Amino acid sequence: VDIREIRPSEVEAARKLLEDAGWTDRVSDPGEFRELLSRSAKSIVAVDDGEVIGFLRALTDGMTNGYISMLVVAEKHRRMGVGRALVRAIMGDNRNMTWVLRAGREGAAEFYERLGFVRSEVAMERARVTGSDAKLDR
Ligand SMILES: CC(C)(COP(=O)(O)OP(=O)(O)OC[C@H]1O[C@@H](n2cnc3c(N)ncnc32)[C@H](O)[C@@H]1OP(=O)(O)O)[C@@H](O)C(=O)NCCC(=O)NCCS
Repeated sequence: VDIREIRPSEVEAARKLLEDAGWTDRVSDPGEFRELLSRSAKSIVAVDDGEVIGFLRALTDGMTNGYISMLVVAEKHRRMGVGRALVRAIMGDNRNMTWVLRAGREGAAEFYERLGFVRSEVAMERARVTGSDAKLDR
């Protein structure tokens, strides 16, 4: 399995992986998803025999903070270390950085715990509003 930066020709395959795993916001519309990636610091894929089987998108300065925003592995390739390889690749070796993420999906917290993440005692968030509610936020 090859872990590397996503190529333009792989964006649609990555979007479909996310869609299959239940993502809709900023994913359902291919144009919007492409723009999302263009604005993100890091988008990497796991490729097996030419097929995109995993995707991770992160926001980071590469020095001190990082946020893992989307991570997905194709269902039939799960539990084989692909998710771990993507997270390790994005975090690199710099232990002088803090990485955060939202572990809302089923199994996500257990997965990240296996990688050494712990529940934050200091993180706060102002969750975004979606769809028609978004107007109220202006
Ligand atoms: C979460 C996800 C990315 C994990 O990918 P994966 O390739 O199956 O994970 P790995 O095989 O690298 O697993 C690493 C470790 O986590 C454990 N793990 C993986 N998924 C787990 C789950 N659902 N529940 C409990 N433990 C899990 C593995 O057993 C492994 O443990 P080990 O240290 O004993 O070897 C994948 O299940 C997925 O795409 N889920 C749907 C989308 C999602 O929830 N994304 C994350 C939140 S945004």
